[in-house]
Amino acid sequence: MNAKMNRVKNRMPIAVLAVLVFFLGVFLTEVCAIADEAEQVVKITAKRYEYNPNTITVKKGVPVALEFTSLDRLHGFSCPALGIRTDIAPGKVTTLRFVPQQAGTFPFHCDNFCGSGHDGMTGTIVVTE
Ligand code: CUA
Repeated sequence: MNAKMNRVKNRMPIAVLAVLVFFLGVFLTEVCAIADEAEQVVKITAKRYEYNPNTITVKKGVPVALEFTSLDRLHGFSCPALGIRTDIAPGKVTTLRFVPQQAGTFPFHCDNFCGSGHDGMTGTIVVTE
């Protein structure tokens, strides 16, 4: 075997590796795209005595991540019809994940007493087909 042939042979693994890395990149990009599509992220702020937004629209069967931030004190989030609740403490993001299984309109409310307007601290989750 001459020197030229040897050089070609030595480059082969690099070429194979380059092709593999390329396809790995394509694969990971696809996976990330699917992951993005598969979760509905909704950012919600809570403060005396309101949520913003207070109407949350999501799609049935698509996982949801609600990301809560309190702007003042401890609040709560409770949606009994969907069986979900969490405390919303100030100074951090609280993430609540669920998968809506039925379409409809479901009320939620604050369930940590937060002052005179506590009873009016409410909102609605709308699950569409
Ligand atoms: Cu907010 Cu009670």
